[in-house]
Amino acid sequence: MKTHVELGTDSYDIIIERGAIERFKELTGIKGKVLVVTDSGVPKNYSKCIASQFEECYIYTIPEGEASKNLTEFQNIQSFLLKNNFTRKDTVVACGGGVPGDLAGFVSACFMRGINFYNFPTTVLSQVDSSIGGKTAVDLNGIKNIVGAFHQPKMVVIDPNVLSTLPQRQISNGLAEAVKMSLTSDKDLFEMFEKVNVMEHIDEILFKSIEIKRKVVEQDVNEKGLRMILNFGHTLGHGIESEEELHGLYHGECVALGMIPMCSVSVSERLVSVLKKLNLPTEISLDKEKVLSAIVHDKKMRDNVLNTVFVNEIGTFEMQKMTVEEIVSKLTLVCKE
Ligand SMILES: NC(=O)c1ccc[n+]([C@@H]2O[C@H](COP(=O)([O-])OP(=O)(O)OC[C@H]3O[C@@H](n4cnc5c(N)ncnc54)[C@H](O)[C@@H]3O)[C@@H](O)[C@H]2O)c1
Repeated sequence: MKTHVELGTDSYDIIIERGAIERFKELTGIKGKVLVVTDSGVPKNYSKCIASQFEECYIYTIPEGEASKNLTEFQNIQSFLLKNNFTRKDTVVACGGGVPGDLAGFVSACFMRGINFYNFPTTVLSQVDSSIGGKTAVDLNGIKNIVGAFHQPKMVVIDPNVLSTLPQRQISNGLAEAVKMSLTSDKDLFEMFEKVNVMEHIDEILFKSIEIKRKVVEQDVNEKGLRMILNFGHTLGHGIESEEELHGLYHGECVALGMIPMCSVSVSERLVSVLKKLNLPTEISLDKEKVLSAIVHDKKMRDNVLNTVFVNEIGTFEMQKMTVEEIVSKLTLVCKE
């Protein structure tokens, strides 16, 4: 399967193909030197398989986890490129989830004001979400994705076979984002989550989710309007995530919880069944005051009011202005008292 992101001179293909890792060079047609950026949790044979296809190829491995999305790693990779005489004709490939993807993408956006970037995403989350759309970034002073740039990849190559090594919880984490996209934009995809064995239909689910993200990005590349539907469930989700240390929840798990109160009653009943089927949380004990304070600091907040995405009917959405208090009062719908 193949789709094309139409962004004028920044357009690119997304290829979804079992075994694509073996044909990476052939599919991408990359020439010149290559640096593959991966992390210590991604099975080594993935980066090695890609590297082995090129004459001059280096592998740079960062420690796994969000903490690696920082300016020190950013600088270290830039220095590595410089030391090995990379030029604008050469290429950086991300091989891993959203962490190496966002970091390697940002390195590529900045090195010599922009060198070729290809993404080989290996988590469900990066395959359906972070590899598409050109948002690259690192974290700074505890604030996520605060230093970054838009830099589109030249191609995204997705091989669903690599999900065979991904822990089940990480699979569910990424599927939460796919469920999110289906709720606002694709009734058929939501019904697939209800009816089918998800892993038996994962290729089609990946493709349909990517199509939603592609269309949103094409219409709103710089995140000025429509792209905010991708934030569905994220206002409460981020608030819940601020208590992350307490709960140890993954981002997608917080988004799952954050979506439930932002739907009509009938939709939220169906959503809860899907989330349970995917082993995602549907209720939580939390300190509402902490969630409130995290939401108050949301950068999109204006005069105590946030523009939120609400789903009345599956496959559609509406924008609703809600005060922080209204948003937090909705938390009772997912709170274990
Ligand atoms: N750029 C965007 O538009 C965008 C969108 C959403 C999220 N993000 C970012 O994405 C990041 C989260 O991405 P993620 O969920 O992919 O996390 P991640 O990159 O940390 O990967 C999760 C874990 O899975 C391991 N892993 C990756 N692929 C594997 C595989 N095939 N087999 C076994 N283990 C594997 C990794 O080592 C890591 O420990 C966050 O930093 C977030 O800010 C970016």
